[in-house]
Parts: sequence; C-alpha cells; structure tokens
Amino acid sequence: MMRFYVLFTVALYSFASAAPSIQGIQSLIARRLPRHASNFSFSIENATDASTNNTTSAPLDVFVVSNGQNGTIHIAGNSGIALTTGLRWYLTTYCHVDIYWFLEPTLDLASPPLPKVNSTYYGSSIVPWRYHFNTVTFSYTSAFWNWDDWQVQLDWMALRGINLPLAWNGYEQILVEVFLEAGFTQAEISSFLSGPAFQAWNRFANIQGSWNGVLPSSWLQGQFELNKQIVTRMVELGMTPVLPCFTGFVPQAIARLAPNASFVNGSAWEDFPTQYTNVTFLEPNDPLFTKFQKSFISKQQAAYGNVTHIYTLDQYNENNPFSGDLGYLRNVTTNTYASLKAADPNAVWMLQGWLFFSSQTFWTDARVEAYLSGVSNDSMIVLDLFSETQPQWQRTNNYYGKPWIWCELHDYGGNMGLYGQVQNVTVNPIEALANKSSSMIGMGLTMEGEEGNEIMYDLLLDQAWSAKAIDTDHYFHDWVSSRYGPTKVPQAVYQAWDIMRQTVYNNTNLTLAQGVTKSILELAPNTTGLLNRTGHHPTTITYNPATLVDAWTIFYKAANSTSSLWTNGAYTFDLTDITRQVLANAFYPLYTTFVTASNATSSSHNITLAQSTGQQMLALLTDLDVILAASNNSHFSLSAWYNSAQAWASVNTTDSTYSIGANETTSQIASYYEYNALNQITLWGPTGQINDYASKQWAGLVGGYYRDRWQLFINFTLNSTTSATGANPGLSSALLALGEQFDMSQVVAGKQNLVLKDVLADVTKRWPGVFA
Ligand SMILES: *[C@@H]1O[C@H](CO)[C@@H](O)[C@H](O)[C@H]1NC(C)=O
Ligand SMILES: *[C@@H]1O[C@H](CO)[C@@H](O)[C@H](O)[C@H]1NC(C)=O
Ligand SMILES: *[C@@H]1O[C@H](CO)[C@@H](O)[C@H](O)[C@H]1NC(C)=O
Ligand SMILES: *[C@@H]1O[C@H](CO)[C@@H](O)[C@H](O)[C@H]1NC(C)=O
Ligand SMILES: *[C@@H]1O[C@H](CO)[C@@H](O)[C@H](O)[C@H]1NC(C)=O
Ligand SMILES: *[C@@H]1O[C@H](CO)[C@@H](O)[C@H](O)[C@H]1NC(C)=O
Ligand SMILES: *[C@@H]1O[C@H](CO)[C@@H](O)[C@H](O)[C@H]1NC(C)=O
Ligand SMILES: *[C@@H]1O[C@H](CO)[C@@H](O)[C@H](O)[C@H]1NC(C)=O
Ligand SMILES: *[C@@H]1O[C@H](CO)[C@@H](O)[C@H](O)[C@H]1NC(C)=O
Ligand SMILES: *[C@@H]1O[C@H](CO)[C@@H](O)[C@H](O)[C@H]1NC(C)=O
Ligand SMILES: *[C@@H]1O[C@H](CO)[C@@H](O)[C@H](O)[C@H]1NC(C)=O
Ligand SMILES: *[C@@H]1O[C@H](CO)[C@@H](O)[C@H](O)[C@H]1NC(C)=O
Repeated sequence: MMRFYVLFTVALYSFASAAPSIQGIQSLIARRLPRHASNFSFSIENATDASTNNTTSAPLDVFVVSNGQNGTIHIAGNSGIALTTGLRWYLTTYCHVDIYWFLEPTLDLASPPLPKVNSTYYGSSIVPWRYHFNTVTFSYTSAFWNWDDWQVQLDWMALRGINLPLAWNGYEQILVEVFLEAGFTQAEISSFLSGPAFQAWNRFANIQGSWNGVLPSSWLQGQFELNKQIVTRMVELGMTPVLPCFTGFVPQAIARLAPNASFVNGSAWEDFPTQYTNVTFLEPNDPLFTKFQKSFISKQQAAYGNVTHIYTLDQYNENNPFSGDLGYLRNVTTNTYASLKAADPNAVWMLQGWLFFSSQTFWTDARVEAYLSGVSNDSMIVLDLFSETQPQWQRTNNYYGKPWIWCELHDYGGNMGLYGQVQNVTVNPIEALANKSSSMIGMGLTMEGEEGNEIMYDLLLDQAWSAKAIDTDHYFHDWVSSRYGPTKVPQAVYQAWDIMRQTVYNNTNLTLAQGVTKSILELAPNTTGLLNRTGHHPTTITYNPATLVDAWTIFYKAANSTSSLWTNGAYTFDLTDITRQVLANAFYPLYTTFVTASNATSSSHNITLAQSTGQQMLALLTDLDVILAASNNSHFSLSAWYNSAQAWASVNTTDSTYSIGANETTSQIASYYEYNALNQITLWGPTGQINDYASKQWAGLVGGYYRDRWQLFINFTLNSTTSATGANPGLSSALLALGEQFDMSQVVAGKQNLVLKDVLADVTKRWPGVFA
C-alpha cells in the first residue's frame, strides 16, 4: 500500500498547527451518540509528526477497531479522520446505523449493549486525500444553510473519511475588506458582488453584479461568522480546509483606481449581458496582484488561524484566457503562484480541472502543459473533476506530473433523477491508481448539488478505503442494512435495490447519459427538443422503465408485511424518490401521444385524444406534487429552500465599515433573497439565460410552476398556433413571463397534513396503467 504515496513527492503541508487529537471524535460522539458516550475508547497511534512538512509525509490514514478495556469498543487511528472513519465502519457493520443526507441521523438508535467485534479489524485508505465539494455546491446546495445544517454535513463528511473539504462561506467579507483598503468605493464593490444564490459564479468570475438588488452587508457578515464555526469544526475533526484566496478578478472601477495597472476584460459567459459578465481581470504580473493576495491571505489567517496551506484558485473556469500564447499562459501561473508564496511560503494551489474538459478547443495539450508548467509539481493539486465520465488525466499524462485527485461529479445543478455508473466509480479509480506513472493522490466528490442518489457518493468514498474494486452486490446489501436499520430490513427492500443496482445505477452507455437524468416535465414545454437529450442534463431514460416499476412494486409492498416502515424516514424518503421517478417516466408517453395527436399535419391527428391526454399530463403533475409534499421531507420541498433563504434576512449587521443595504428593512432583504432563491432554480439569469439548468422536482415547484407552464403549452398547442418545429414566439414569451411572475410565497404554504401512505394508496389507484 505504501507505494501509492511514496512514488512521487508532493508538498502537502497538511497539519499546520494542530496535532491529531481525539477531541474531534469525542465531540462527535457527544453530538450524535450521547447514549453511548462511555462505550468507546480512542487512541491516536503512529501519527506523523505534526511539525514536519516533509513532502512525502502525507500518510495514508489507518484505523484499528478492537474490543477495548472495560467493555469498550476501542478505535485507534493515526489521525482524527482515521478515527471517525473507523467509527463509521463499526457503526454500519455491527449496529446498522449512520447519517444520510436529508434524514435524521440514526446513530444513537444503536441499541445497548454495543456488540463486541468478532475480530480486530484493520482499515486503511488507499489514497492520502479524500476531497469534498465543487465550488458550485456552495450555491446549488448550501447557499442558505445555517449552522445546524452544517453540523450534520460535517459529521457526515468526517464519518466518510473526508479530510480535504472546500470552505467558501464568508469569502466576500474578506474580499470586501481588501477592496476597501485598496480604495474602491462601496458602490464600486457592490456592483461587482453577485446575489446570495449566485456567489459561486462570481467567485469563478463567470458573472459580476446582482440583478434585482444588491448583496447586503448583513449577508457578508453572517456568512463570515458561519465560516468561522465551519472551519473550526473541520479542523477539530481532523480535516484540512481548502480556503479561497485572491483570484485576480476585480471591480471594473480598477480603471479609475489604478489606470496604469495591467488588467484585461474577461470573456463572456453563456448569454449574459456584458454588464453581468466580461469580468475584469488584474494580470498576475502586476504588482497590485501580489499586494491584494498578501492582504487577503493575512486577513484570512487572522480570521481562521493558520489552519491550512491549500488554496482553491480558478481563473479560467468557463472563462478563456486573454491570450493563448504559451509564454503568456506560463507567466500567468508563475506569477499567480508567486503571489501565493509571497503570502504563505508553503502555499499549495488547488485547481479545478474542469476547464481542460469544458473548453477543450482552447486548452490544447500544449497550452495545458505550458499553463501547468508555471508551478512546480509540489505546489499544485489538480482536481480531475469528472473522472467517471470525462477524465482528463490520461490525455494530460497525469497532468504532466502534478498530483491530482480522482473526482466523481455525477450531478449537475442539483437535478433529481435516479442514476448511477457503478462500474465507473469502482473500477476506474483503482485502475487510475495502479497506473505506474500515476500521480493520483486522492479521491473525492465534486457534485454540483448534493441531490439524492446517495449510494453513488458513498460508494466512491468507501472505494477510497478498498484496494480492490468494490463488489457492488455486497456493497448495496450492506448499505441497505444501515440505511433502514438498526432494525431488521425485509428481504423485499434488498431485492428492490438489487434491481436498481443493475439497471438505474448501472448506466454503461455514456453516449446516452453522462450524469443525473432530468425529466422533461421540468423543462420549458415544447413540441420538439425535449426527448433524447444526452450529456450532462440527459432526458434519456437509460434503463427499461418497466423494470423500475417492478422495483417500485416490490419496495412499496414491503410495507404491507412490515408496517413499521411507514415510520422509517429512509423508507418514506426512498419510496417518495422512486415513486417520483416512476411518475416522471410515465409523463414521457403521455407527452409523445399529446404531441402527435395535436399535430394537425400528422396522420394521427386526433383532437379528442390530444385534449384528454393534455388533461392526464396535468393530473399527473398534480399527483406528483401531492406525493412530494406528503414525503414531509425538505429534499422534496420548495418551501424548505424558500424558508432557509428567508431566515437569512433576519441577520443583523454590526460592522459599519461596509454598509451596503444597511438601510434596507428585513422584509426588503427577504424579498431579495426570495427572488434569488427562485431565480436560481427557474430562469437562472435576469431573463432566462440558462433557464431550468437547476430545475428541481419539488412540491410547490411541480404543482405551482411546471404545471402552469404545461397548462399554457397545452392550451397554445390545442389552439394549434404552434408549428411542427416548435417555433412559437408567442408561447416563448408567455412562458418567460410566467417564470418572471411566478410567486413562490403563493405555493410554499402548500399542502399540509398529508399522509404518504394514504396519498400513495389514492394515487396508485388513479394510475393503474403506471403502477401495474
Ligand atoms: C521525507 O520522508 C521520506 C520518507 O520518510 C524520506 O525518505 C525523505 O528523506 C524525507 N525528506 C525530507 C526532505 O526530509
Ligand atoms: C518546511 O517549511 C519551512 C518553512 O516553514 C521551509 O523553510 C522549508 O523549506 C520546508 N521544508 C521542505 C522540505 O519543504
Ligand atoms: C476501567 O474502569 C475502572 C473502574 O471504573 C477504571 O478505574 C479504569 O480506569 C477503566 N479503564 C479504562 C482503560 O478506561
Ligand atoms: C501503530 O503501529 C503498531 C506497530 O506497528 C501497530 O501494532 C498498530 O496497529 C499501529 N496502530 C495503528 C492505529 O495503525
Ligand atoms: C460476528 O459473529 C456472529 C456470530 O458468529 C455473526 O452472526 C455476525 O454476523 C458476525 N458479525 C460480523 C460483522 O462479522
Ligand atoms: C465580452 O467577451 C466576449 C468574448 O467572450 C467578447 O467578444 C466581447 O467583446 C466582450 N465584451 C466586452 C465589453 O469586453
Ligand atoms: C500565521 O502565519 C503568519 C506567517 O505566514 C504569521 O505571520 C502569523 O502570525 C500566523 N498567525 C497565527 C494566528 O499563528
Ligand atoms: C513573461 O514574463 C517575463 C518576465 O516577467 C516577461 O519578460 C515576458 O515578456 C513575459 N512573456 C509573455 C509572453 O508575456
Ligand atoms: C452493468 O452492465 C454491464 C454491461 O451490460 C454488465 O456487464 C455488468 O455486469 C452490469 N453490472 C451490474 C452491477 O449490473
Ligand atoms: C465507464 O464504464 C463503461 C462500462 O461500464 C466503459 O465502457 C466506459 O469506458 C467507462 N468510462 C470511462 C470514462 O472510463
Ligand atoms: C449507446 O447508445 C447509442 C445511442 O443510442 C447507440 O448508438 C450505441 O450503439 C450504444 N452503445 C452501446 C455499446 O450499446
Ligand atoms: C422549441 O424549441 C425550438 C428548438 O430549440 C426553438 O426554436 C423554439 O423557440 C422553442 N419553442 C418555444 C415555444 O420555446
């Protein structure tokens, strides 16, 4: 195992100050397993000397679980994260409890006395680093999270062995201080910052500014205070946070402030008007760049302590460089890294490698090599961002020697569809690591949104602790035991998951789909262009839909014999999710029938059929909405997103150095947040620039927005003003207007007191052809 990390030298200064300690796991136990606080004992053993910054000393994490003294379960490890990973191994293997996204943690349900282990178990990671987050996850998933949400997330991460997480919250507070110090005015800075639901793309400099309002200072401060808690907890748990730094992107007023500085206009992103894109980039060879970098990093160190040397820094994520000249590209990285080193002598630059895939025409092999060659191999880590589908490490010869991390992306925009590539996330990383010249140092998750399909994410994180490709048959079985545990799980539930493992979760044809599927019901209605989409937002169903109905039937009927499943949060969650997918799939044939029957030029033209099918489509959306509401789970609900955004409006500002929005009332701020939250999941841009990119099958959105759009489309189409090619300017603008007018507050109160069991009995009776 050792050979995996001694093959090459990597300057990863993991432990800046804190020596590994058992304090993190002890507090985790106090939070999540209070009943069992005295039933565990812990020790740190064989830890690497924390004061060393030896390049090869980023060790593999190892743990040992054994029967300890006084009847305790003893967990030994060489790091804090080794301990928490060992704890999860014990809790899932012996007690069948865990923490899952969107569910109440079941850890404390482990019934006393805790079982002794049959034999001492030795666990070891196969890579030193397990990474988590995509910069955009901070907008698609956690934009409005509070500290409670974060605490659960961080414990989830610690138990799954993650030791290298991004920590983006509060970035803007520090950036604003740097800009104020430099002499920008508040208004100049404010015109640069984007809204609370769009900060990720401002951080990437795809966009600047905020449509429909300005980012208030209370947001900046609230997020900054939150990040102090987040970073402190990460460090306590034994993680090395990856923190932001100055990227080079500045307010346009740099032209006023420093007219002689060297800066360029960045490229345009998507179809955004220039006002909101073409972000100004201060060239890294300008002395101001280093000045801003030093200011930023010293303020950040003062805020969080010297907790890391690893910085996330992306200048060309879906932005193309000013020049493709090889010398220019090399200079950009050389000078950018020099600024980091001036601020932190041990700095390591972490780069999201997405650009080399998404802008492949620009990023020829020669340009990638020139760009990467500006930084030494021990000072940069590249995230191979979409390894399961579009890996770039082969074509770049292991990023020309830079250490890199194998990442599973899986989901775009937090879209919701059952989907997985079980083979690619088990076999491929093992092969990548076995490669003789491999400079792979980690495995991790870079999903755009944490959206469900959790088994696919758990699988990759567990693969990081298994030297052989995981056997998914056993894996799914064990996963099911913990997911619905600690009580015994009926065979039918295992059976349903096994069907899904071989179908829904085993896409092997990447021509059909490369990530989580989207349903056509979430798209702006059209007579053409919705079906058979491929790529990142595929609408193609990659398995036989009838097989999913089989799995659904078996899963649903499991509760007939085991009625306690109706009070099992994981069961009702998954039942909702599978039902959601079955209904979404059933929308397709209705749509096809409608389009054919309503087409006056078709030989199958049948207006009566079109009318009745149109009604069925609307009825299906209504029923889907009710089921999502009856799940009683935030993951299926627009109101949860809405309420979390609203809650941030009550944060008070105490710092008056930056006072943008300080005069606004709580309700003005609340409506700005509401607009932001809604715009991201619907129009995504002031006038629908990337409409429906982040669509969701949420109660309230399906019944209150998508259904209205389909109603409009059906009416238009039946009045036969739509051409066969779908072109219909009247309909397009009416759909856009609907998006602009949709009032989230009208639908969030939604349906209440629904009982999933009753709702399902009712709905399945109404759709005998679907649930047969
Ligand atoms: C770092 O550690 C490795 C392995 O323990 C050792 O071979 C090497 O000499 C050390 N390098 C330095 C600079 O201390
Ligand atoms: C370790 O860090 C110190 C500064 O803290 C630096 O001077 C030294 O060169 C580093 N050693 C290695 C092997 O990189
Ligand atoms: C075991 O329990 C005894 C009595 O409570 C205590 O004195 C001793 O320190 C315990 N040993 C360990 C290893 O916790
Ligand atoms: C620490 O090293 C000793 C001696 O090699 C070994 O017995 C023990 O299991 C190791 N502990 C851990 C947590 O790996
Ligand atoms: C431990 O041993 C018992 C008795 O042989 C067995 O039933 C159980 O499955 C074993 N547990 C594990 C996790 O191996
Ligand atoms: C914005 O960027 C695009 C290239 O992406 C360029 O064609 C356009 O001229 C830029 N606009 C401005 C105002 O710089
Ligand atoms: C962090 O490191 C810097 C040097 O890089 C040093 O000036 C500062 O005092 C350190 N801060 C803390 C809190 O240790
Ligand atoms: C790269 O930077 C060097 C020195 O900083 C400068 O002399 C050279 O002209 C630059 N090359 C390009 C292509 O920008
Ligand atoms: C996935 O599909 C491939 C190709 O059809 C097949 O070889 C493989 O056994 C399947 N794996 C699972 C887990 O069903
Ligand atoms: C993913 O796995 C499939 C087989 O399941 C294989 O055909 C494909 O090449 C793999 N993709 C990548 C990027 O390795
Ligand atoms: C994958 O799907 C495409 C598009 O339907 C099809 O042309 C191709 O034959 C499929 N590949 C395999 C290996 O089945
Ligand atoms: C339907 O899609 C076509 C092709 O993308 C497009 O030209 C047309 O404007 C769309 N129609 C509506 C009503 O949006």
